[in-house]
Amino acid sequence: MKKLVYFFLLIGLLACSQQNASSTFKSAFNGKFLMGTALNLDQIWGRDTLGIQLTKKQFNSIVAENCMKSMYLQPEEGQFFFDDADRFVKFGEENGMAIIGHTLVWHNQAPAWFFIDEKGQDVSREVLLERMKNHITTVVSRYKGKIKGWDVVNEAIDGDGNFRPTKFHQIIGEDYIKYAFLFAQEADPEAELYYNDFSMADEDKRNGVIAMVKTLQWQGVKVDGIGMQGHLIMSGPSIDEFEKSIVAFSELGVKVMITELDLSVLPIPKPNIGADVTANFEYMQEMNPYAEGLPDSVLQVQQQRYVDFFRLFLKHTDKIDRVTFWGVADGDSWKNDWPVHGRTDYALLFDRSHQAKSAVADILKMAKKR
Ligand code: G3I
Repeated sequence: MKKLVYFFLLIGLLACSQQNASSTFKSAFNGKFLMGTALNLDQIWGRDTLGIQLTKKQFNSIVAENCMKSMYLQPEEGQFFFDDADRFVKFGEENGMAIIGHTLVWHNQAPAWFFIDEKGQDVSREVLLERMKNHITTVVSRYKGKIKGWDVVNEAIDGDGNFRPTKFHQIIGEDYIKYAFLFAQEADPEAELYYNDFSMADEDKRNGVIAMVKTLQWQGVKVDGIGMQGHLIMSGPSIDEFEKSIVAFSELGVKVMITELDLSVLPIPKPNIGADVTANFEYMQEMNPYAEGLPDSVLQVQQQRYVDFFRLFLKHTDKIDRVTFWGVADGDSWKNDWPVHGRTDYALLFDRSHQAKSAVADILKMAKKR
């Protein structure tokens, strides 16, 4: 009789451990791809205890939403501020997480001084290259051996597939991208080096990024991965177009990552604004239809769309190295304030009370079957 009790106890324990083994994103996707989230300062400094608990439970990779951007790390020339970034990296190390550096070269949130001289005129190509080299070398060297990979260059290709006419491009030329990758590799040869951008399912953007990466590879530049930001809306992009980009980028011989996943349920003021942070629009009530709560009918459609995208990601675990959400819970999401300030969005998979939405269970079940 005793043996029978032990037998059923053992079965029960096994079932529980199996259940636990796939009851979180990081365990369900173990061996498939890393699951990550972006952290804000409240989470990095432990003030958001629920957000931190959820992060530790669900994710095995983290990226700093803002504090590792150049305007925060080097607000004045030669004056670096590393307190927030150091704390972020320490949190990742303490919790055995893959730490992603975001981002070394981006035209947005670069400090104003970066491109001008003391008279306010554009600096020369040589000066800007030197400033870029100093920033990248100082930052990457500081975290050498601690960062799995860096978003070396962010959003350098425009919607038409050409180089975005940023100050980096105007002053240095298109080879600023090559130099950014070379400087990063020199500072930490072991770190993976990524190119990251939004609207990567759009054909012109896809082809522009492919052409750029092929040129870098032809020049012998180390590019380890391409980040597809994944800022989705209810009406697009299609699974098919997104899949075309996953396959096409992978065929370059680089890792593919979904780097800033969220799925806004709100109307957009105009089509094709992608995730260009410079776009912002007047607040209008009709642009904020769910301030009092999200109708179940809308929630179901959004949750199904999340499941459909994770079905696609699971189909390509041989190509995808990481899926990172751009925020922990709905209240953290940048989408509450972009492209219209002061809205109530529901873009992530954990609600404002940090409770999992229905798609989480469906996604975990799907992952377990693979
Ligand atoms: O920290 C200040 C705060 O002191 C001040 O009171 C407040 C008032 O404006 O601004 C706060 O800074 C804001 C910062 O987020 C931190 O919250 C900036 O104004 C705001 O512009 C900044 O927005 C960030 C945005 O990048 C701007 O670059 C978003 O949080 C962040 O989610 C977003 O992330 C980008 C990725 O880095 C690249 N891909 C697109 C993605 C979405 O735009």
